[in-house]
Amino acid sequence: MQLITLLVVLMCVRTKNVEIDPLKTIIWGPGLQPAEITMRARYIFLQLIDVHGKNLTESPGENTVTGLVQGQSFNDLPCRIWTQLFDCKDGSFILRYKVFNTCLNIKIKVKIKGKELPMEMLDTLSVQGNTDLPWENKVEQLFWRGRDSRKERLDLIDISRKHPKLFNVSITNFFFFKDKIDKYGPGQSHVSFFDFFKYKYQLNIDGTVATYRFPYLLAGDSLVFKQESKYYEFFYKDLTSGLHYVPVKSDLSDLVEKIQWAKEHDEDGLKIAKSARQFARDNLLPRDILCYYTTLFHEWSKRLKSKVKVLNNMEEVPQPSHSCQCHLSNLNLKDEL
Ligand SMILES: *[C@@H]1O[C@H](CO)[C@@H](O)[C@H](O)[C@H]1NC(C)=O
Ligand SMILES: *[C@@H]1O[C@H](CO)[C@@H](O)[C@H](O)[C@H]1NC(C)=O
Repeated sequence: MQLITLLVVLMCVRTKNVEIDPLKTIIWGPGLQPAEITMRARYIFLQLIDVHGKNLTESPGENTVTGLVQGQSFNDLPCRIWTQLFDCKDGSFILRYKVFNTCLNIKIKVKIKGKELPMEMLDTLSVQGNTDLPWENKVEQLFWRGRDSRKERLDLIDISRKHPKLFNVSITNFFFFKDKIDKYGPGQSHVSFFDFFKYKYQLNIDGTVATYRFPYLLAGDSLVFKQESKYYEFFYKDLTSGLHYVPVKSDLSDLVEKIQWAKEHDEDGLKIAKSARQFARDNLLPRDILCYYTTLFHEWSKRLKSKVKVLNNMEEVPQPSHSCQCHLSNLNLKDEL
């Protein structure tokens, strides 16, 4: 009995000695992109870090780390997911999970000493749960980060330098305009997409084509300024300029004026931000995206002229019959086809 007590005391002392900084935890592995990787078991690694910024090299003790993976099935029930956490006893952990049915919106929840780690798994749902500053506490500036994939992005930096009070914008990577790095660089470090929404104003500016981030910007709770553009995604035609976003000329020449308008019309700005989020909730959730592609392929298959040949090395992947419950009549696909 005494021995057990001693052991427990020793273990407690040891656990207490290692002071972990949960937010510094390094997380990596293919399991972080559940939608992009199809494997029987998906996994992520965690390396714990102490308060001095050093890697832990020993186990922090039982129950320090917990992991849970959850998701939603088509019938809105929780997915059948089996999760296992391995303590590698060297300061690192492996979280392994298996998904047993088609599962949307997979969320990985890791807690270290009861503190939940922010996991950046970007989708139109996670954006809504990770913007924590209410409108009135957001910084009244336009925030933007991105790479140098279009000249207007460099122009944005020029404009911001003339009006530093209105902007917090930077280029993160130079690839297309490497020769301009002296003027517009150096490349700035990564900012979590969720932190974009600490700022009141967001900008959707083209990259090489339409930006994939527009749905996420709309789903956040800031006011989105959208550069007028010939590029579009399937849902753009259902958006209304001035109702869901503030339009900005493609050369950004009226951007400053539009930000000033927003600062003077705060309630209107908030209204637009709210209707953008509502639009995202009604039209841009994973089921809507899946529905769009299902309908697209369905329409496409009707237009195929040549017969589809099943080659020897092809394998049929059977889909559950209930896998898409979208309403085809809601979609007007003419523009895309
Ligand atoms: C800490 O752990 C990470 C993840 O395994 C590793 O990449 C890094 O090199 C380690 N740092 C040191 C100083 O050992
Ligand atoms: C710009 O934003 C970054 C990320 O939020 C922040 O760290 C930085 O201090 C901001 N810069 C200014 C000048 O406010």
